[in-house]
Amino acid sequence: MGLSSAARLAVVIFTASALAQNANNTASPTITSASYTTTTFNYSAASTYLPLTDFSNEQLAFLWDQVGPIVTAAINTTVSPTPEPTSYPKPGWVHPLVPAYVPEVADAVLPDDFLWGVASAAFQVEGAVDAEGKGPSVWDLLPHRWVNAIADNTTGDISANSYYLYKQDNLRLKNLGIQSYSFSIGWARIFPFGRGPINGQGVQHYDDFFDDLEQNGIKAVVTLFHWDTPLALFDSYGAWTSEDIVADFVNYAKYVIERYDKYTTAWYTFNEPQYCNWRFSQYPFGTILPDYNGVGKGGGIRAQYLCGHYTLLAHAEVYKWYKNVYKGTKPMTFKNSANYVLANSTSAADAEAVQRVNDYNMGWFGGVWTDGDYPETLRSTLGDTLPTYTAEQKALIKGAADFYAIDAYTTYYAAAPPNGIAACVANRSDPNFPVCAVSDSVAPDGFPLGPNSDAGASWLYSTPGGVRPFLSFITKEYFPTVPSIVVSEFGFADPAESQFSTLPQILWDLRRADYIQSYLDNILAARVLDGVNVTGAFAWAIYDNYEWTSGLGTKFGLQYVNLTSQERHPKASMFQFLNWFQSHGLGKGSTANVSVPTYGRVRM
Ligand code: NOJ
Repeated sequence: MGLSSAARLAVVIFTASALAQNANNTASPTITSASYTTTTFNYSAASTYLPLTDFSNEQLAFLWDQVGPIVTAAINTTVSPTPEPTSYPKPGWVHPLVPAYVPEVADAVLPDDFLWGVASAAFQVEGAVDAEGKGPSVWDLLPHRWVNAIADNTTGDISANSYYLYKQDNLRLKNLGIQSYSFSIGWARIFPFGRGPINGQGVQHYDDFFDDLEQNGIKAVVTLFHWDTPLALFDSYGAWTSEDIVADFVNYAKYVIERYDKYTTAWYTFNEPQYCNWRFSQYPFGTILPDYNGVGKGGGIRAQYLCGHYTLLAHAEVYKWYKNVYKGTKPMTFKNSANYVLANSTSAADAEAVQRVNDYNMGWFGGVWTDGDYPETLRSTLGDTLPTYTAEQKALIKGAADFYAIDAYTTYYAAAPPNGIAACVANRSDPNFPVCAVSDSVAPDGFPLGPNSDAGASWLYSTPGGVRPFLSFITKEYFPTVPSIVVSEFGFADPAESQFSTLPQILWDLRRADYIQSYLDNILAARVLDGVNVTGAFAWAIYDNYEWTSGLGTKFGLQYVNLTSQERHPKASMFQFLNWFQSHGLGKGSTANVSVPTYGRVRM
């Protein structure tokens, strides 16, 4: 860090008076030669910027200087809630909700312990990113410094400002009758440097938050890490590219679990470790971040597999500590990102392509449900690029989860690459290496698998028919040891929703409503008709939020957020969601009238 302005002033004054003295001096000054050292500087060879030994205000200021100026919201203290209405504007009989997709389960009733609700993540909703002693995370840095990498160049500085507005949000959840809220804790709010001293104000905030949720009768489903790695851990050792991260994560996790276990219904250590592939490995290594630990400019597969390796180890250590030492009783796992994959043809090559896609998504972190190790498809293709678990580590990983959590958003067709799987596997420069399969949201006849989503979620098509066999596939074929499965996220971003300029245009979100109804019907069908032990489902997202490199412009919310006033408004999809749970035996705790008339049953 540079000198503080006071120190700079002192240097300037000192230098000026020395010059004045020299000017008045008639005798020649005695010159003694100092000893100098010479070195060869090369900043791009830096791998470590900040030794993690100094946890002072100055170091915190240094980290925030790295990020750049932060915008503070107009609302910047915790707001007391005002009463929620007993009725919200909602769809009427003229255009009621989307009808049932699977009539066979229309009358099925779910048990009271079915876990359901809405989801979010700290960085995507909290805002207040530098408030009350929080340290920056890499996601505070990226939108500020990674020029044009975020589609609409928005930052998460304010987003939905839930750090200050959570009391109203929680009261709204209660009023709507939503059973659970799945959210994440910001690591750098608790440990501003990722390790070292605890930030009392950050802890106080989460104490109040958990307390408020409990008072509203909402179950807390808590994720410890949803991608917002403390920036200091990048600066110090390259975060998830280094084994050092394991001890730091375990230290953070233990603190949070010990403090909040009594409030928590289920724990997720990690959100989607598969992000090591399509998110972490693509961070700007070698440009605004150094190419730590030899990952090379642009990160790529070395960053990807180091990240995955240490993530699973960190998960397993936390799990085994929680169960064996802390004697925790709540279910714990991590959330997975994977989708149902169909073969593009009946050829053996396309069947192999499907297998490869599954192995490179679910199998990569599947040691928990198998033998604690990586699938052979990864080892034989990646060779030394894939780190190795010791026998002891494999034993730690094996069995380190109580249930499977899948963020089941969409379905793909997979095919062998045009040059064939073998040629791709043999050539690390092949654009499809290492998966060596190609996936598409378009069926072999050229028709899309379902309605498309927003351009900022171009990977996402609404494919309800896929979720039902996917749940069977995971629990019966791919990981038969899985005892139960929760759909930890499903959700949709209506195309170009951010371009609507009036509230009425925004509120009737037909594609999202259709997605919610059709996915829930199929999840229920998996449970009731196919005998899959599905024990929960969470819609993404509680309200519009910050969609990573797509920024604030891609909307996933079941509630609209007015980014100027910060008012929230339930969309049609929220009523679709609530009515679905009410018609299947849950959500009756609502203190507002949320039911929407069924088309054709209301007489004028
Ligand atoms: C899953 C991720 O957990 C979440 O952060 C993201 O916003 C949604 N998918 C939608 O892309």
